[in-house]
Amino acid sequence: MRLLSVRLILSLIVGITLVSLAFSYYEVLREKRALRSQLERSSGELGESFALNVEKSWESVRGLQRTVQHFGNREHMLGVAVYDRQGKLVAITSDLQPILGTAPTDVTRAMAENHAESSFGRLDKYRVHIFALPLHRDDEVLGGLAVVHDVDYIRVQNLHTWREAFLRILAQVFLIVFITVLIVRWSIAGPIARAAQWMRALRMGRISSRQQMPDLDLFKPLAWEVATLAESLSQARTAAENEARLREAGESMWTADRLAVQIQTRLEGGRLFIVSNREPYIHQRNGKEIEAVVPPSGLVTALEPVLEACDGTWIAHGSGDADTEVVDAHDRLRVPPDEPRYTLRRVWLSKEEEEGYYYGFSNEGLWPLCHIAHTRPIFRALDWQFYQEVNRKFAAAVLEEIADTQHPVVLVQDYHFALLPRFIKEKRPDARVAIFWHIPWPNPEAFGICPWQRQLVDGLLGADLIGFHIQSHCNNFLQTVDRVVESRVDWEHFAVSRQNHRTIVRPFPISVDLTDDESVEPDQYGINYLDRSVLMRSLGVEAAFVGVGVDRVDYTKGIHERFRAIERFLEKYPKYQGQFTFVQIGAPSRTHIKRYHDLMAELEAEAERINWRFQSGKWKPILFLKRHHSHKEIEGYYRAADLCLVTSLHDGMNLVAKEFLAARRDERGVLILSQFTGAARELRDALLVNPYDIDQTAEAIRAALEMEPEERQMRVRRMRKIIRERNIYRWAGSLVTELCELRLDGSDRTQGKSRGGVTAA
Ligand code: G6P
Repeated sequence: MRLLSVRLILSLIVGITLVSLAFSYYEVLREKRALRSQLERSSGELGESFALNVEKSWESVRGLQRTVQHFGNREHMLGVAVYDRQGKLVAITSDLQPILGTAPTDVTRAMAENHAESSFGRLDKYRVHIFALPLHRDDEVLGGLAVVHDVDYIRVQNLHTWREAFLRILAQVFLIVFITVLIVRWSIAGPIARAAQWMRALRMGRISSRQQMPDLDLFKPLAWEVATLAESLSQARTAAENEARLREAGESMWTADRLAVQIQTRLEGGRLFIVSNREPYIHQRNGKEIEAVVPPSGLVTALEPVLEACDGTWIAHGSGDADTEVVDAHDRLRVPPDEPRYTLRRVWLSKEEEEGYYYGFSNEGLWPLCHIAHTRPIFRALDWQFYQEVNRKFAAAVLEEIADTQHPVVLVQDYHFALLPRFIKEKRPDARVAIFWHIPWPNPEAFGICPWQRQLVDGLLGADLIGFHIQSHCNNFLQTVDRVVESRVDWEHFAVSRQNHRTIVRPFPISVDLTDDESVEPDQYGINYLDRSVLMRSLGVEAAFVGVGVDRVDYTKGIHERFRAIERFLEKYPKYQGQFTFVQIGAPSRTHIKRYHDLMAELEAEAERINWRFQSGKWKPILFLKRHHSHKEIEGYYRAADLCLVTSLHDGMNLVAKEFLAARRDERGVLILSQFTGAARELRDALLVNPYDIDQTAEAIRAALEMEPEERQMRVRRMRKIIRERNIYRWAGSLVTELCELRLDGSDRTQGKSRGGVTAA
């Protein structure tokens, strides 16, 4: 850097000096020319007016000498001289006499050619200008006149100009060099030094993410790339360490890398297509900028490595307000934005379509139908019409995307697309199609109230594979099939045969990514258990014990019941008043639907009522935070809490329960979990409750707060082990593997294998 500065300074000095000298030289030249031509003009005018006087006094030698002497006394003038026709001196000023004897050539030429002559030259030691002109009488040349100026003042003036230029150049060089050095220090050397320090820390593993990037000014884009590179390297290092550890322990664990390899092998060079209503990247306007937002969904974590591994395509509803601005002519774009590795194809819906298909049939019909949560489903014929139309629209998009792919593999997500498998298979029987139903499937009596149950089941049976979270949802589905459509249900293999097509039905419990990054210290993850008073104080509350709940504000989540259980707990165990605060993070969801809109107001009123009843000083029992929180923010709450309450009245799986445990690397914290969630089948070490039983939940809160640390640790440890082994990558890997192993001619290769759903190694 020092060498660079010296070189830069020297180049600046030489460069600026040369350029300034060239300009100054030109300036001096111009000035010299101006002064000379001014002198020529003025001595011409002088000479002509003097010639008239000389001509008048030509006859008198003394008069002539007087006229000459009087005239020759002016600024910069050396003198004047008068000659006769033969070039003999007639009169001359006294100063000029010693240096000018004979007539100068300018005078003889002026007389000979009868017009004025002018020239610069030397006379003795003087630099002079001579202006000569002929003298007349009656048109006849009488003699000649010479006006001689001393031009030394022009040289002096030029010297003065050079001196000024030199001082100016000196000041310029100094100022420019000084400013440049400052700029280099502030904008280049400083950020480079900070970047180097930061990179060294990255390399040595002292810091781990781009969040810790210092202010690097104009090097920010470069640093961003380096951070991404470092992150990939650190991920690769973690993956390699995990692999090594696993090999050592003889375990077989699913990782994003292993999933990618598995998918590549299973697809045998083929391509994978995923369809979901929510897109993995939503482009939104933020002032003048467009930003890509990842919706809070475990699905993106699970399916992104799969799509990246085979450069697949994700087809989804383009719902962002800037979504149309970033797609190409085929409504496609490459994602992730930082490192594009697969294609996102957006499908556009009109307001009416979104209203009927998404808000109406999907979320006012199927959602409450499948969740037994005492909210009456609404089935409108018009919504059903739109549901069919939008499923056809998505089918058209899928068929367009798979047109050039032989034996494509299509993975459809959720209850928004019950008809899609049939629509796809009708046109492309060679495609492998699976649908994963992320919500519960109720018993046949409950499902039977849907006026279009037969069409829905028929649409689903177009798929080769149907996945649910748990076995009992598979059983409910098969019972519904048995009742609703003409088919043969094979209970031994959990399959349905209908019109020469076979569909297998399997449980695939979805999960989260629990990878303990050993290179990161627990306290580097953000707020931890010991910091919880800091977190609470930032919310304006003081509490010794903290509980947390994280949900979309949805009537299936049992938030009402949860609040009432907290009220009951404080009523029954008053010693916790002033001590225990429950933080409910509620992400507003589907608020366009009246039931959801009303629910938000109801919950606010309920929290307010309970707070009013108990609150004192800086303490209150419930903090209801009604906004979307980032994953990182939520992690802070998970880590700070003594307990997490998941009290869904009915839930396919519930990933909050698993996310809470994944965040508890410190092996503290108690999970209170509704027995009506899919997660309750796996997480037997949670305190299981019936959320409708308010007293039972209140008791569970007390038990959680008073549990012995050893027991708490043992429970968390056991549940974390389950999640670590049955993670999100295992879910995606099993689903795709099972689908790829099916034989499309009616009998699948997995027949005879166990029904565990997970057949992959
Ligand atoms: C449930 C559904 C998902 C859905 C999510 C969020 O988990 O199974 O398909 O994406 O809720 O709901 P939203 O309607 O906002 O997509």
